[in-house]
Amino acid sequence: MLSTQQDKLVIEGAYALNGSVKVSGAKNSVLKIMGACILSASKFELRNVPQLSDVRVMTEVLRHIGLVVEQQDDVMFIDATHISRTDAPYELVSKMRASFIVLGALLGRCHEAKVSLPGGCSIGKRGVDLHIKGLQMLGAEINLNQGYAEAVASRLEGKEILLDTPSVGATENIMLAAVLAEGSTVISNAAQEPEIVDLANFLNAMGADISGAGTNEIIINGVRQQDLHGATYTIVPDRIEAATYMIAAAGTEGNVILENIIPGHLNSVIRKLEDVGAEIITEGPNTLRVIGTGKLEAQNIVTQPYPGFPTDLQAPFMALLTIANGVSIITETLYENRFKQIGELNRMGAQVQQEGDIAVVTGVPKLTGAQVKASDLRAGAALVIAGLQAEGTTEIFELSHIDRGYECLVEKLTGIGARISRVPAELTGIADTTPATN
Ligand code: EPZ
Repeated sequence: MLSTQQDKLVIEGAYALNGSVKVSGAKNSVLKIMGACILSASKFELRNVPQLSDVRVMTEVLRHIGLVVEQQDDVMFIDATHISRTDAPYELVSKMRASFIVLGALLGRCHEAKVSLPGGCSIGKRGVDLHIKGLQMLGAEINLNQGYAEAVASRLEGKEILLDTPSVGATENIMLAAVLAEGSTVISNAAQEPEIVDLANFLNAMGADISGAGTNEIIINGVRQQDLHGATYTIVPDRIEAATYMIAAAGTEGNVILENIIPGHLNSVIRKLEDVGAEIITEGPNTLRVIGTGKLEAQNIVTQPYPGFPTDLQAPFMALLTIANGVSIITETLYENRFKQIGELNRMGAQVQQEGDIAVVTGVPKLTGAQVKASDLRAGAALVIAGLQAEGTTEIFELSHIDRGYECLVEKLTGIGARISRVPAELTGIADTTPATN
């Protein structure tokens, strides 16, 4: 466990947010698209790439394998001409579970890979059994040995693969390996998230033949290595980042315009925000305005795979419901350990009780600032929203979690009138004991 000095966020709350925020490219898209570049000995230009710590970890993974990766602002250049090794070590994969995606891509291009198992993480068990089963069905021999998945495949062959659950990562790993398999692969009960569609669009832009992404059945017709080529591609906007700012606008009686979004990716959260009492106005094809009316009504929420209400917004939405009239019931169906924000929200005056996978939120008139710590990325986002809503000063610690998924958080929030600052480590005098992350 590292022990380094850590920054903290300081928020003076109870000020309405007002103005425009430009949403960045999607973290959960770009990480997989970076991994997909492994498949072809070509050069790629990715645009709308957010500058996040998770993107830096994926950059390290690709560089370890031998790719040349450079990022200039929001443009990333990847040269995948040479691959010098086919492993991804524990030191890197344990920092970020999404890097397990290189298993499918390395198998496709090099017919071998040795990738560390991601292990447990702070929000739940999160196995990779479905990734492994799917790749085995395509013909890979995979041994789990000393914490690593060691895979070889003299030949990959398309198959019909039915996923037990619509896992995002398993769908992506199988898609990547299937691109260069012989024949057709059909993934049934596939994940339907917009990030899956983005990955399929990118793969098609580099010469793959994939249809059905965005539905629960994806068909990957295998192509030959020489059919793949470089591509220039723009990453979709981050729907979870966008929704985080929308929730913050609703909770502070704000009036905020979200730019560079795809409203269709946000349907479930738009509906819930309207039910709570916020007004959502379409300002253009990629722009929405959120007005917090000051009237917030309790809601019941059940997290579901896309297009249901996303687990990644469960904690941020809980922060909003802490100050809604009445009792809200939130059911978390995806992860068994994703309620870690509750204790911290209660420190700020919220009344939330957990009973297994259900949280009962009894709305209170106001939250009050407190010192709190982020336990994972979205729990951290919830605390930021709570701090913006609360009266007085909130200090948030363990920011490394938040840095994984929110580009320029302080700058963006300051731009819409929040009173928020980041106090650098040397001034806080507090050690960071943040463990491995989700
Ligand atoms: C992706 O994780 C996202 N991460 C998560 O975002 C998100 O919470 C999750 O999808 C669900 O939407 C990235 O894209 C990098 P899953 P992933 O496989 O792919 C179980 C964030 O805050 N499962 O769809 O790991 C698993 O335990 C995050 O940005 C198995 O049992 O999620 C979970 O209960 C964190 N075996 C469910 O499926 C498997 O082999 C869904 O997980 C795979 C998954």
